[in-house]
Amino acid sequence: MSTEIFNAIAARYDVTNYALSFGMDIGWRRRIIDHLPGGNELAALDLATGTADVAIVLARDPRVRRVVGIDMSEGMLNFARAKVLKAGLGSKIELMTADALALAFPDESFDVLTVAFGIRNFSDLMKGLAEAYRVLKPGGRFIILEFSTPPGIIQKFVHGFYLKNMVPFIGMTLTGKKEAYAYLSRTVRAFPFGDRFARIIRQAGFNRVERCELAMGTATIYAAIK
Ligand SMILES: C[S@@+](CC[C@H](N)C(=O)[O-])C[C@H]1O[C@@H](n2cnc3c(N)ncnc32)[C@H](O)[C@@H]1O
Repeated sequence: MSTEIFNAIAARYDVTNYALSFGMDIGWRRRIIDHLPGGNELAALDLATGTADVAIVLARDPRVRRVVGIDMSEGMLNFARAKVLKAGLGSKIELMTADALALAFPDESFDVLTVAFGIRNFSDLMKGLAEAYRVLKPGGRFIILEFSTPPGIIQKFVHGFYLKNMVPFIGMTLTGKKEAYAYLSRTVRAFPFGDRFARIIRQAGFNRVERCELAMGTATIYAAIK
């Protein structure tokens, strides 16, 4: 389901994100860097890399030696490849078609794993977390950026209204694919966030989860340590 949706919207994905988040999505992805583990020569894996924005942010950081970006959608990866070449990062970023729920990498291969707005789309969340845990080195970080619901009754109401009504409308206007953005809206409203999601991450074996709320709680970075 989600692969077809992402293939269909790939060409307009970046511009629609920008419009829907009022341009904030770019800064949110950059904040991932604040949670990198210590050390240099880091090997990073960006799960559900999409059009490679996070892979590019990681590769531009001098502490990161190499980045692998994986995604199931060839349509998204085609745009990712063009962006990586344009950014002059072809020698530092490797992009692969792969399923985050069944990674082909050996245990303890990476110092840092990232996933931005992708974990919500995994068909089996616990399997995705278990795979992330397996390929991460001990002491490594799993950094998750995902939508969340802001606290406060009024903020919740405005946020819910925006998700239910505006997101499918704006998405339809910019991409012609209403169902894709209705899907986005549904998955954001259904996905766990805050304490509940931090608990789920810990259930997968991670022993500390730091949380950083962005834009009044409409997005959250979870940085978990193995
Ligand atoms: C909303 S996009 C996020 C893309 C990018 N990380 C970003 O920051 O914009 C979600 C991505 O997750 C990918 N995806 C969903 N399930 C996946 C899985 N099991 N393995 C790999 N990629 C997956 C989709 O193909 C899509 O490109």
